[in-house]
Amino acid sequence: MDWKALLGLGSSSQTARLFNKVNKKHIPKHIAIIMDGNGRWAKARNLPRETGHRQGVEALRSIIETCVELKVDHLTLFAFSTENWKRPEREIQALMSLLVEYLHKELPELHKNGVKIWALGDIDGLPSNTAQEVRKAIKHTEKNKGLQVNIAINYGSRAEILRAVRNIVEDILGHRLSITELSEDLILCYLYTAGIPDPDLLIRTSGEMRLSNFLLYQAAYTELYFTDKKLLWPDFDKRELLKAILEYQKRVRKYGGIDEQDGG
Ligand code: IPE
Ligand code: IPE
Ligand code: MG
Repeated sequence: MDWKALLGLGSSSQTARLFNKVNKKHIPKHIAIIMDGNGRWAKARNLPRETGHRQGVEALRSIIETCVELKVDHLTLFAFSTENWKRPEREIQALMSLLVEYLHKELPELHKNGVKIWALGDIDGLPSNTAQEVRKAIKHTEKNKGLQVNIAINYGSRAEILRAVRNIVEDILGHRLSITELSEDLILCYLYTAGIPDPDLLIRTSGEMRLSNFLLYQAAYTELYFTDKKLLWPDFDKRELLKAILEYQKRVRKYGGIDEQDGG
């Protein structure tokens, strides 16, 4: 007899309980995730790092489903950084093929759920079959109106800012833009995330307390949520996402001002 389940303590009933607790009127519009810990997950099981990445991709399904269910507008996933090229060739190749495989396999289901795929980063700098698959997924889902999944791949925030500066300077020199038009919001328009609202909630798994060159400009007022180091990305599930959202819902966002309730 499964006494835990009978007493309502099973993990699915716990998930349902957390789901009910979430305030559906205060869902973060944009959630960004640094999916970290695939390597450690594999190491703990004496498996190759590639297996950890594969398991990490598996974890994505329920996270995307939950975001669709909660009507989140944007989910941004850090899949490969500009610094990840430092990794062994074999691991890089495995990551690239996994992305191709994932997009190929999951596209029909994502499309059915109204998901719109977008990419952040230097797509031209990817192996050509990876770039092709990413472009295909974007084209295929471009008219969808549901959750937008932004895949950050070959993405680095500093490279993104440098690219923005270059394009701004070019536009100024080409007389398409004047210096007086420059503003904080205009800079946003030159980033890969142009048109996408800043993230409300940024989650990083595996206990690492850093941003690792992710969305540095955009995350100026984002609520950060770091999981315990024992919680590695392949183990991150619906329940953990709901916990992060519940924590977000407790935060008071002040943007440099004062809490409205303290304002008198
Ligand atoms: C995150 O997992 C996935 C990518 C960076 C692509 P890691 O591969 O960084 O896992 P750890 O940090 O080594 O455990
Ligand atoms: C950040 O994780 C990049 C991705 C999750 C894709 P890393 O594992 O590369 O970051 P560091 O090296 O620990 O800072
Ligand atoms: Mg890592």
